[in-house]
Amino acid sequence: MTRAIIAGSGSNVPANAVSNDQLAAIMDTSDAWIRERSGVESRRWVEPGTSTLALSIPAARQAIESAGLTAADIDMVVYATMTPDYYMPGNGCLLQAALGLPSAPCFDIRQQCSGFVYGLQMADAHVRAGLARHVLLVGAEVHSAFMPFREASWARLAGAIDAPMPQDEWDFNTQNRHLEVLFGDGASAVVVQAFDGEGRGIIDHLIGADGTDFTRLYIPGAGTRNRPYIDHALLERNEQWPQMDGRFVFKMATTKMAEVTQQILQRNGVRPADLSLVLMHQANRRINEYVQKLLGLADEKVIHNIQKYGNTTAATIPLLWDEASRSGRIRPGDLVLTVAFGAGMSWGANLLRA
Ligand code: ACO
Repeated sequence: MTRAIIAGSGSNVPANAVSNDQLAAIMDTSDAWIRERSGVESRRWVEPGTSTLALSIPAARQAIESAGLTAADIDMVVYATMTPDYYMPGNGCLLQAALGLPSAPCFDIRQQCSGFVYGLQMADAHVRAGLARHVLLVGAEVHSAFMPFREASWARLAGAIDAPMPQDEWDFNTQNRHLEVLFGDGASAVVVQAFDGEGRGIIDHLIGADGTDFTRLYIPGAGTRNRPYIDHALLERNEQWPQMDGRFVFKMATTKMAEVTQQILQRNGVRPADLSLVLMHQANRRINEYVQKLLGLADEKVIHNIQKYGNTTAATIPLLWDEASRSGRIRPGDLVLTVAFGAGMSWGANLLRA
């Protein structure tokens, strides 16, 4: 039976690291609060002007090369992002053109932090159905473009102004600080490939969604509910920026990540102790510690990157995968579980033999 494997991976994170202290110079927050509540110590933000597509091109090239392939071998693209370059068309087509892929079909998926988990299910289904042999699956985000900072804030972050922002200039940044401190930029990609051998392959997926409470984490502005779909009044109401009810999302994330993990393990007869590695989405370290404890997973079975990258949404799990496979933490045949929760609300898990 043909199964799919992850045959190669690649990553690209911006060089520019932004510390918690740098954020504390432009809004009412502190290194201690951010570390303690989320586990983020630093994040990478692109230089203004670098887009999600630009960040993802080197990651995609590296993934294709590490699978021992060339661009001509890729017969489908799945691009997961919540920060695309354009409202339309999607980033998949832009990447296809940038890499010079022969007329491969391109899907863009918008499942936010669950984007990679959903994308892997989709890539696997196409491979198993014989519709594709080499799927390029990308997760990439430039969240820093969604930061509502004024010039004076960017100048401080760039080191052009030394003095912290005076309190009477704190504004929407401080109001939205619970979101701004969490997110980082990053891109990563994998090649999902048909495999006819033994002992490796994607085993199962469990994905789900519940749109009932979508307004707990969303961007209200710029959509067809409005006519025109974007205007000055909308911008003045700050509706173009993300909004989140952190406590609600935290609660639902812990519940759903734990639930989906237990379900997928149970229906495949796998005990947590059988797993070699668990790659959890990195929205908040406390969410992951809760899930780890509930499953009784030993520390060496769980890896984190939130401390250095923050929440990179669709890029998080492939970044973890790429780092783990390059450092030898994932070896062929290892039993690996991925699990994620994101806006939508959406969630999911994949179980595979690497
Ligand atoms: N610095 C300092 N103080 C802050 C900050 C900050 N950055 N952010 C919030 N606070 C304050 C609040 O104003 C509040 O003050 P008050 O008690 O005086 O009112 C206090 O800290 C507690 O605020 P909460 O929002 O309740 O803080 P919480 O402990 O819940 O942490 C956080 C906030 C980190 C956002 C957490 O709720 C969380 O991680 N939520 C889930 C995020 C997530 O999983 N997202 C899903 C994926 S994202 C996606 O799909 C795109």
